[in-house]
Amino acid sequence: MIGNGRSDVHVTITGLGAYAPERVITNAELSQLVETSDEWIVERTGIRERRIAADSQALSDLCLPAAQQALEQAGIEGKDVDLLIVATVTPDMMFPSTSAILADRLGATDAAAYDLSAGCTGFMYALAQAYGMLAGGLARRALVVGGDVLSRILDWSDRSTVVLFGDGAGAVVVEPSEEAGFLAFELGADGAGGEHLWLPGSGSRRFEDPDRFVKMNGREVFRFATRVLVQSAEAVLEREGSTVDDVDVYVPHQANVRIIDHATKKLGIPSDRVVINVDRYGNTSSGSIPLALADAQEDGRLRQGKLVLMTGMGAGLTWGSALMRWTMGLEAPSAEPATPGQTIRPPAAAEGGAAA
Ligand code: UT7
Repeated sequence: MIGNGRSDVHVTITGLGAYAPERVITNAELSQLVETSDEWIVERTGIRERRIAADSQALSDLCLPAAQQALEQAGIEGKDVDLLIVATVTPDMMFPSTSAILADRLGATDAAAYDLSAGCTGFMYALAQAYGMLAGGLARRALVVGGDVLSRILDWSDRSTVVLFGDGAGAVVVEPSEEAGFLAFELGADGAGGEHLWLPGSGSRRFEDPDRFVKMNGREVFRFATRVLVQSAEAVLEREGSTVDDVDVYVPHQANVRIIDHATKKLGIPSDRVVINVDRYGNTSSGSIPLALADAQEDGRLRQGKLVLMTGMGAGLTWGSALMRWTMGLEAPSAEPATPGQTIRPPAAAEGGAAA
């Protein structure tokens, strides 16, 4: 699917928030659990540490502070939201949906609320859905949340997956605006490649040995990722009549620094325009892109008028890009140092200045 949306109705992001759990797991700690090393993980993935949810935390507990921060930045309350989408593959439970649980906790009593499953690309799909609902006049204020607690579905004795993933969530408020905003989307799925990244036994299909852990063919996913990150970005840029030279901020899915570097070089985007935080969070699946957006806002790169290109990819296999003109006017970035385990506060909403 590819499209520019409506030219007479503009929709944009008006608030942004993110949250990563407090507990940090370093590569050194992982090397005590499985046969791996800091050197291998850093060289092959660029990941140095990741955050892991506490036993008491479910997905909605990660989404709540991110959502509250996004609402605060947008200057609205939960009751003002009429559409709430949570993109995830690790909901609190299959039903009720995490979005319904979150709507209740936020006081979003008028919101249509549902979860969306598109692997690590979920946040991009959810953004496009919110855009469509708002541009179509069905909703006025959407809260789009992406988050996962992948630590719950990993086999902690499998070194090929356990080093890659982390837990986290991010949220944006999406509203109609005077000016665009979202300019174009490109989304796709290739179910034939689904078995390269899957969770057999997690649904109604019967499996012989359903151990319910993530299974991944890393090399195939790597090949897929390097291909679609480039193709999807080029497609959405061409659709809008833009080129890579126009892109001010590139926010790729944070899966592996080598994948990001490959896409960046192939596209020809200068490295100082690329947002990378996979070193600190690992791959947080649906949380990846909003966490990276929050980091870019925190360090002052997301300013009004900047052209932002986001591309996600993941299980499905799926991919998705959005091109948007950032419309939020922000103050100069906070110079406060990073403090682990707290809500990631962008400058406009900062109180204590804590950032992750
Ligand atoms: O949202 C999408 C989620 N998934 C991804 O993005 C995954 C994409 N794929 C990747 O990022 C990479 O393929 C990996 C990081 C998973 C693996 O890197 P690679 O360079 O493709 O390594 P490889 O699978 O080809 O394995 C190379 C060697 C193997 O040993 P042999 O067969 O050469 O002796 C593996 O057994 O590295 C070994 N290995 C490890 N060694 C130490 C695999 N995992 C580890 C590990 N520590 N954690």
